[in-house]
Amino acid sequence: MFISFEGIDGSGKSTQLTMLREWIEARGYRVVTVREPGATMLSESIREILLSNKQNITSASELLLFSAARVQLVEKVIEPALAQGEVVLCDRYVDSTTAYQGYGRQLDLEQVALCNRLATRGVMPALTLFIDVPYDEAQQRMNFTANSSEPDRMERSGRDFYNRVRNGYLGIAAAEPQRFIVIDGMQDRTAIHKEIVGIVDRLLGA
Ligand SMILES: Nc1ncnc2c1ncn2[C@@H]1O[C@H](COP(=O)(O)OP(=O)(O)OP(=O)(O)O)[C@@H](O)[C@H]1O
Ligand SMILES: [Mg+2]
Repeated sequence: MFISFEGIDGSGKSTQLTMLREWIEARGYRVVTVREPGATMLSESIREILLSNKQNITSASELLLFSAARVQLVEKVIEPALAQGEVVLCDRYVDSTTAYQGYGRQLDLEQVALCNRLATRGVMPALTLFIDVPYDEAQQRMNFTANSSEPDRMERSGRDFYNRVRNGYLGIAAAEPQRFIVIDGMQDRTAIHKEIVGIVDRLLGA
């Protein structure tokens, strides 16, 4: 079972992923959690490049770097874990590329889709949970984070960018309503967790 979390930066993805992980493990499943970009040595190195404020990265180059990190993760971690019958929880996956590089950076959506097919090798989540929070709320949540350092290269992209990203996510939800579920991220974390557990419980039981 493969489940991914999506949402703009600071929306509460990691919070919910951790809560869901504990809930699934308590039911006796083995869970592998990974973050994107990351989770393999190569992908973590690419992550550093992508988030560094010292880099000047073109949009097309950004698309390919995220995709290179992803395909390494798919081949080295996600496919083997799924083959072992483990539950994989992914903090961001291919929808981030559609939303950020496609809608946010406004790259050609067909080229982004082609790149996504190469990067995923066709491995898609059974369920994607999109934690939907407006830009201002997400900004506020990030400011509350105790260790809040400087915003990274992606986080510096500004309000208009994030509004396009959010609309991109909502477009995916409209196109793939079975897989891509919109969760109202303005609820408190317990209420969101309850909603997510309801959905995952049905899926695991199916
Ligand atoms: N439902 C919620 N209501 C209010 N605050 C929340 C909620 N969920 C998470 N938070 C807080 O918002 C901040 C961001 O949450 P979190 O790190 O889970 O977001 P994220 O989407 O993983 O962010 P990033 O994209 O930066 O990794 C944290 O301080 C977290 O405690
Ligand atoms: Mg996070």
